[in-house]
Amino acid sequence: MASVDPTLGPLIREAAAQLRRLLEVEAQETPLVPWQRPPAVPIAVTAPEAIPPSHRSAAVPRRPGDPLPLLHPHEAAGLAEDLPSLERQVQQCTRCDLHRSRTHAVFGEGSTDRPRILFVGEGPGQEEDRTGRPFVGPAGQLLDRMILAMGLTRDQCYIANVVKCRPPGNATPLPDQRGACRPYLMRQIEILRPRLIIALGAVAADVLLGRPDAVARLRAKVHRLGGIPLVVTYHPAAMLRNPEYKKPAWEDLKLAMRQWTEPGSRD
Ligand code: URA
Repeated sequence: MASVDPTLGPLIREAAAQLRRLLEVEAQETPLVPWQRPPAVPIAVTAPEAIPPSHRSAAVPRRPGDPLPLLHPHEAAGLAEDLPSLERQVQQCTRCDLHRSRTHAVFGEGSTDRPRILFVGEGPGQEEDRTGRPFVGPAGQLLDRMILAMGLTRDQCYIANVVKCRPPGNATPLPDQRGACRPYLMRQIEILRPRLIIALGAVAADVLLGRPDAVARLRAKVHRLGGIPLVVTYHPAAMLRNPEYKKPAWEDLKLAMRQWTEPGSRD
């Protein structure tokens, strides 16, 4: 079994304490109990069905750097294999009607070198459409504070969305719009090979896990996508509207942080 870096424990405890303080202040709730390592959470293995049988063979071992097979061959056809080319395809994309009203397609941004966390939101809002950058509006400010409280900076993470173009009026992206954009997101994950994925909200969870379910039923456990641990939590915009979501979100972020100490999560 791989050994765990002993210097990580204090770092994670400090990050946990910072995050707890942040959420206590924001929620103005009674103080949370001091952080203690909870009992191990069973890992829910999900979405193997997302991997085509032709890619499931255990006979050929993956080498570091090999792309994760997340796309069916027909979805992958014609898709760029590096991020700059993929971004150019997204900027020119006309796969769904959302391209008609966009100012900018919002590809995503952050560390492209095995990011510590890939955050996946729903779709660009007004400010994101104007600037071409993900999560720069009010929900983005809360996401920034969550990242800081986890002891990370935005540029150690990667931030992307399910749909790359703003749905007019910030509507929830429709199934055909999500489906049209899904290959871009999956190819981003294949290339980035993030150490951990956090799905922000039910739309991201549905597209990533193929499970149309409420956040309340998907959160608080560790799913897997192509072998990558994936935690579902509330979307920051939902937390702004419903401050009572902040406490469970904090539990989800602690669960996510614990994945970094799991053997194999830092290879
Ligand atoms: N909400 C999202 O889901 N994504 C953004 O980029 C901004 C707000």
